[in-house]
Amino acid sequence: MKVLVIGGGGREHAMVEAISRSKRVSKIYCMPGNAGIAELAECIPSIGVMDFDKQIAFAKENDIDLVVCSQDDPLCAGLVDAHEAAGLRVFGTRKNAAIIEGSKSFSKNLMKKYGIPTAAYEVFTDAQKAISYLETNAKFPIVLKADGLALGKGVLICNNLQEAIDGVKEIMTDKKFGSAGNEMVIEEFMTGREVSVLAFVDGKNIKLMSSSQDHKRIGDKDTGLNTGGMGTFSPSPFYTEEIDRMGWERIYQKTVDAMASEKRPFKGVLYFGLMMTSEGPKVVEYNTRFGDPETQVVLPRLKTDIIDVFDAVIDGTLDKLNLEFEDQAAVCVVLASAGYPVKYEKGKKITGLENFKNKEGYYCFHAGSKFDEEGNVVTNGGRVLGITAKGATLKEAREKAYEATNWVDFEGKYMRHDIGKAIDEA
Ligand code: AMP
Ligand code: GLY
Repeated sequence: MKVLVIGGGGREHAMVEAISRSKRVSKIYCMPGNAGIAELAECIPSIGVMDFDKQIAFAKENDIDLVVCSQDDPLCAGLVDAHEAAGLRVFGTRKNAAIIEGSKSFSKNLMKKYGIPTAAYEVFTDAQKAISYLETNAKFPIVLKADGLALGKGVLICNNLQEAIDGVKEIMTDKKFGSAGNEMVIEEFMTGREVSVLAFVDGKNIKLMSSSQDHKRIGDKDTGLNTGGMGTFSPSPFYTEEIDRMGWERIYQKTVDAMASEKRPFKGVLYFGLMMTSEGPKVVEYNTRFGDPETQVVLPRLKTDIIDVFDAVIDGTLDKLNLEFEDQAAVCVVLASAGYPVKYEKGKKITGLENFKNKEGYYCFHAGSKFDEEGNVVTNGGRVLGITAKGATLKEAREKAYEATNWVDFEGKYMRHDIGKAIDEA
């Protein structure tokens, strides 16, 4: 069968790699794709993730059997609905359910209504009211969140009243995150370790993938600005059987049932961002898609044919599927452009990519790369490559991933040096 993947980052590279292992797939297309994905799929750089009409026309012309999308903005804008209306078969979340990521006030109100544990919060549509609330009620630190999609950057943790007032102005008055800041959530600051749990959901049934953990800050020891994610490890040794039991009891099934009760049945990948607090796991955020770079440490270990999984999600038969992962660990270290996440240059030549050829258990996922006019692979984003390695233990996987970061180079190559270090404490 022929599969069309929409997107062009490290997550999509990992998805395409998993799809390329399916015995059922004869051809993969990717829109727009990138220079790494181009080794496994035919990329169509001229068609973007939001060009629904062009995607649909291409899919019809090329007899595509399955369209796959796992990116927040097109899903929240109705990619799945548009493709389905055109008669295509699609793996992804429909617009009315993607709102679980697209609006923080929606997801917070959902959790409150159905008793799903999360940080206490208030929603505001008026900057002055938000400031008055902070002046009278707030305990610091406190967390401000723009309501809408903001590339993972619309969250401010404020240590005192002045920072919080400045934050409200940034989000609601200066619109630093655009229309995402028309509404905002102010919530209680939680402490604890974070774990990401990705799940396949078919509207009613849930199959959890292996747990993982991201490192969101740009600097070692979790310092500096928030980014899209600087590295991941999986499984998380902090995701214990006890946490898993509490997650099932309090969070996973309750969330999926809540969405069904709201007439917004959730199909696709549901990402639970959890914080292990002293009162048990609480939801920090939901995403309506595979995490990036969590996917780069989860899918390389997927043993089940991913097309069988996509089919079970679409057809509502996940309960009959046996979802299996390898018993190994994996670590992904992101190589970013100097200056990310603020200002960085693009177009730097990437060398050494050939070192990953035929290296079992090592992956070089491209997050931001393209071909220049001479056919060289050059940097094309803040996050450039995700270097993943598998190992018998997390420690071994980490050592191998860091060793492999030396195999490639580009001007301004930046990485954190402590990805997965926390696992030493486990
Ligand atoms: P989000 O985009 O909602 O995942 O937030 C980004 C990051 O901000 C999370 O991964 C946490 O590290 C942090 N964060 C968000 N909400 C809270 C909270 N209520 N308490 C503490 N940290 C938070
Ligand atoms: N790595 C965090 C995310 O995908 O939202």
